[in-house]
Amino acid sequence: MKILLASAEAVPFAKVGGLADVVPLIARSVTGLGHEVHVVLPLYASIDRTNLTHCDQPMIVNMGYGIEFCRLWKTTNLGVEFLFIEFDRYFGRAGIYGENGEGYRDNWERFSFFSRAAIDLCDFTNWIPDVIHSHDWHTGLIPVMLREQRVYRLSKSASVFTIHNMAHHGYSPRGLLNFVGLPEKLFHPFALEAFGAINIMKGAILYADKITAVSQTYADEIKTTEHGCGLNDPLMYRAADLIGICNAVDSDIWSPKNDPLIPAKFSHNNLAGKGKCKLALQEKVGLNVDENILLIGVISRLVEQKGLDMVCDILPELLDNLHIQFVLLGAGDSVLEDRFRFYTNNYGGRVAVKIGYDNSLSHMIEASADCFLMPSRYEPCGMNQMYSMLYGTLPIVHATGGLRDTVENYDEQSHIGSGFVFHQLDHRSLYNTVCWACATYYDRKQDFVAMQKYAMQKDFSMNKMANAYLKVYEYSLKAHERSR
Ligand code: ADP
Ligand code: GLC
Repeated sequence: MKILLASAEAVPFAKVGGLADVVPLIARSVTGLGHEVHVVLPLYASIDRTNLTHCDQPMIVNMGYGIEFCRLWKTTNLGVEFLFIEFDRYFGRAGIYGENGEGYRDNWERFSFFSRAAIDLCDFTNWIPDVIHSHDWHTGLIPVMLREQRVYRLSKSASVFTIHNMAHHGYSPRGLLNFVGLPEKLFHPFALEAFGAINIMKGAILYADKITAVSQTYADEIKTTEHGCGLNDPLMYRAADLIGICNAVDSDIWSPKNDPLIPAKFSHNNLAGKGKCKLALQEKVGLNVDENILLIGVISRLVEQKGLDMVCDILPELLDNLHIQFVLLGAGDSVLEDRFRFYTNNYGGRVAVKIGYDNSLSHMIEASADCFLMPSRYEPCGMNQMYSMLYGTLPIVHATGGLRDTVENYDEQSHIGSGFVFHQLDHRSLYNTVCWACATYYDRKQDFVAMQKYAMQKDFSMNKMANAYLKVYEYSLKAHERSR
């Protein structure tokens, strides 16, 4: 089978969040099952072109208002072909989605252009995929275009759309339809219209041959009013075609046994290296150097979804009452950044806050912390709780979405679990659960260590995920065939 993945992010080229980790992993894992997978990305200004080659011929992109010319670049990374759309008017900018905390106002134009380019490149390269798999609203117009624009050579190509985050819909003005050459009839509540505008996510949900969400619980949650972000009705309508597939972890990048970004390696058979990492991290970020104190880590985008405002609210109480250290790496909401920074002054040596994006430090924190805090309000899947478990760093999580599906709550009777889970999303539950983790660390050390070893052996390998996507690709081809 030939599969084209279209995404706004993919490591090692462009990353904002977990989307970037998962897309190339799907590509590699499905390639490993004997299929041909290509990934297409916009060529952002930040992408290093040294190892990329470009086609000499310009590529035509068929927009509604006429044609545009772009340039196609290529490279191979870990056995997967990556293609890049160069079009500086939209992608020759400093950011991926925006700058200085502000999204670009023309994101709808940028990504609808990219979606059309992803379709046109198939003809240009003469590589006709069986399935085009798009991700989140940025590439959500692809299923709509495939169906409504009847691109001749792609008439047999099925579409799969994966929801990584329901909160962002790609609201666009009505003019989007003309812009990309979609018929005006789609400005309809049973198509792309919502609240007098275009909702790209809604279009993707209604038009894709198959839809997936990045965990089973999230697939269930988004069909409800509480988590459906206003699109629960279209999702209920497509319920039979919506499948939950949990993300996997790239063990070439995230394994404490051979992670080049950590100062000492370790495994579930020998945790000594983890202690060394902790000492090195404490030294590096200015915490008091002490292997025996409970170190709680956070690595996150600082946005409402992640629930870290609640951590901010209770941090003084936690620090006053518990023998803990706290290290945070994150960036996003400036008020939250300032609130966290403030604690560094008041609790010197016990709180370290690094504002910014730092891949090496994120590996160091995963390896060094004893617990990882992730009290997300909602979490489609979440990568960090899985990385944490594999590094023996026990996650403290709210039971939602992928957190619920991947973290096994500590059971004091059986002495086992892979983390600490709370069900009620409020300050008290969060506070009590941190206290519970702390008490386990100090008073039931044997259980804590047994949990670390258990968590490190969890299977988040990519094979299961790859087989699940492959099934969806097969289903999507059948569904597409029936709908033609
Ligand atoms: P989301 O995609 O919602 O942000 P995930 O848990 O799925 O959440 O993925 C987040 C990814 O981004 C992880 O790989 C995490 O390590 C990384 N990350 C988030 N913030 C930072 C940061 N400030 N520095 C380095 N890596 C970060
Ligand atoms: C989104 C979600 C996150 C998920 C990631 C990759 O960014 O917020 O939960 O892990 O996509 O699927």
